[in-house]
Amino acid sequence: MAATILYGKDIAQDIRAELANDVEELKKQGVEPGLTVILVGDDPASHSYVRGKERGCQEVGIRSEVIYKDASISEAELLDLIHQLNENPNVHGILVQLPLPPHISEKAVIEAIAPKKDVDGFHPLNVGNMMIGYDTLLPCTPHGIVELIKRTGTPIAGKHAVVIGRSNIVGKPVSFLLQQENATVTMCHSRTVDLAAYTRQADILVVAAGKPHLIGREHVKPGAVVIDVGVNRIETGKLVGDVKFEEVREVAGYLTPVPGGVGPMTITMLLKNTVAAARKQTA
Ligand code: GUN
Repeated sequence: MAATILYGKDIAQDIRAELANDVEELKKQGVEPGLTVILVGDDPASHSYVRGKERGCQEVGIRSEVIYKDASISEAELLDLIHQLNENPNVHGILVQLPLPPHISEKAVIEAIAPKKDVDGFHPLNVGNMMIGYDTLLPCTPHGIVELIKRTGTPIAGKHAVVIGRSNIVGKPVSFLLQQENATVTMCHSRTVDLAAYTRQADILVVAAGKPHLIGREHVKPGAVVIDVGVNRIETGKLVGDVKFEEVREVAGYLTPVPGGVGPMTITMLLKNTVAAARKQTA
């Protein structure tokens, strides 16, 4: 039987409607959630992502501001700007769009953001809290993936989840969150020998390798939930995931498309974090 296609944008829409209500409630209490995004340089993909974030904020009623800085900004100037935003009580969330120019340390920038305003969930304190299962600001893509899986109605507890990719932004954190949901998790990566031997055992397969068309029919257990986190632009200019969509939809139980799968969930989790941060900072 063909897979049910998991349109993240539809699920994201439902969550955004819930968030719009939360924002309205906060506004009645005199709190207007605010997100500030810092965008350094003129990378077209970054500009496009940031426009998506602004649109999302508008949709749910979050006040958003984008501070554009030239790629020549010094690290010290950028850190100074972050420190000012840390002190500003009207700014509940701060996001510095990555990547940054090579003369600026991403580590220094992430560590400069006040953990309570770190709506990306990238600060080491928030990463540590997530790892030990404390209530904290969770990284947006992994959190969005877990929400997507939950909204299929598939129980995660006891399932075998296989994650391909060990990045700090997706692979590592999603493996922790799935363990937190009581899945048995196997992590695979570019040096894994006989990838298919692992993936064929997966009830839940999360593919975040950044390799177009890595996963075909032969990698997938019939009925599995397959989440494709890949975003690859191929020679024709088309965006494709890491999964051979047409092939895998014939065997999987659920499958996310690219685009329109995980992507819209990521921004929605950013909005959710901003609302949560505003609530906490004003409680
Ligand atoms: N660049 C690409 N994805 C992201 C993200 O999730 N957060 C930030 N800050 N930059 C990004």
